[in-house]
Amino acid sequence: MSDSTTLSLPPGEDIIIDYHQLEAVLAKLEGLVESNGNVFKAKFPDQDSWVYNICDPEMAKHILVSNYKNYKKGVGIKQINVLLGRGIIVSEGDLWKRQRKMMQPLFGNKLLTQQLPLMIRCADKLLASWDDDIKAGKPINITESMSQTALDFILHALFSEDLDRIIAETGENPFLMVTDDSARDLLFARRFRQLTHLVNDMMQRRRAENRWPEDLLSMVMRATDKRSGDAMPEKLQIDEILTLIIAGHETTASVLNWTWYLLAQHADIEQQVLAESLQHMPADDMPSMENSEQLQFIRQVLDESMRLYPPVWVLTRQAIEDDHFNGIDIPAGTDMLIPPYLVHRNPAYWPDPEKFDPQRFSPENIKKQHIGAYLPFAIGPRRCIGDSMAIQEMALHISRIIQKVHFELLPDQTVELEPLVNLRPKQDIFLQATYR
Ligand code: HEM
Repeated sequence: MSDSTTLSLPPGEDIIIDYHQLEAVLAKLEGLVESNGNVFKAKFPDQDSWVYNICDPEMAKHILVSNYKNYKKGVGIKQINVLLGRGIIVSEGDLWKRQRKMMQPLFGNKLLTQQLPLMIRCADKLLASWDDDIKAGKPINITESMSQTALDFILHALFSEDLDRIIAETGENPFLMVTDDSARDLLFARRFRQLTHLVNDMMQRRRAENRWPEDLLSMVMRATDKRSGDAMPEKLQIDEILTLIIAGHETTASVLNWTWYLLAQHADIEQQVLAESLQHMPADDMPSMENSEQLQFIRQVLDESMRLYPPVWVLTRQAIEDDHFNGIDIPAGTDMLIPPYLVHRNPAYWPDPEKFDPQRFSPENIKKQHIGAYLPFAIGPRRCIGDSMAIQEMALHISRIIQKVHFELLPDQTVELEPLVNLRPKQDIFLQATYR
């Protein structure tokens, strides 16, 4: 591409985005969108090249869908690399393509049907764990609870009976370290990677015993490349399993946390959620897949909650070759930030963006949405692989619990955002729970 003086660059000279000051970064980006528009350039403090910030749905679509081959994962990927090895979230090119082809079919309807009872059991277990506190009138730490229940679910979805055996044998759950620490630094990565041995042991044992419980570990171990018929190399199987723990736990926990927080502030919407649940869900028995699919309004509530609080609050990409979009030059190597948190607040696509309004996602309204204006699971070939599973898990969780418990916000509680890898509240959120 021509030298930078002749390039057609977006506005935004001399703006520094300091990702080391995360608390301030969202507010700063929000201000910059206001003064520079939906596409602007900026710099990181220690970097000479431009970073483009994209809040324009058309351009987001260009990067993530139409010309996705020209973009690899960007800022922050090295950090995740240490954590997840060569797993599907971080891999690129042919390796990614092959892994995606093997992994995607695992997340179909069969898995959702198989996992439904587990989703309900996790919600019931959580309810039981709250019983003493609810009876004593003690507020529930909803942030911590959602983290525990989401981890409980994904670990059982992955390891089923083997996890129960390890807990019975050792008296503890070795994977609990994942919820101990929200920092995703090198220290955490080292501790997390030690779980490799544990997963490897489980895999060897299953092979030796020719025992294949119906869970995701068995599925990953038995997944084969359609063309060659080969299974994944064992090391890669472990990376994919560790990937699913991280990808499937924090995101879901975050959405549930924010959804209960929103419902506690919107009595009218809470009532509609309750009414739908009472209509379609048995109170204590196991629901069917049909029951689960009828939770249309609850799914809208979750969609709206993810619009306001997308767990993956920024998607990052880097241009491989020079590119050009809508009059803007994108030199090779340019880092791109696409923050769903801000795209979801673009008033041209989301009128009155701060308002919590699940009707935005009614079947009629969804048809009018721009594909690039709503990105909680990203879009395009690298879209989230576990989206349907997450939605079903969260819808069943909400519908099961809302029949039993009513939550209210504690007075004087300040809730601030902490945009780490996932969008979290800076301090845990507590809600006052009462039985219905
Ligand atoms: C509400 C919950 C979830 C949200 C909001 C979410 C969000 C996302 C997003 C935004 C991406 C794309 C990241 C990027 O392109 O840079 C992604 C990718 C991915 N997610 Fe999720 N996710 C959720 C739940 C899950 C679950 C439950 C699983 C599996 C157990 C999962 C597995 C994955 C995997 C494997 C990828 C990588 C796909 C690829 O690169 O081909 N996610 N997720």
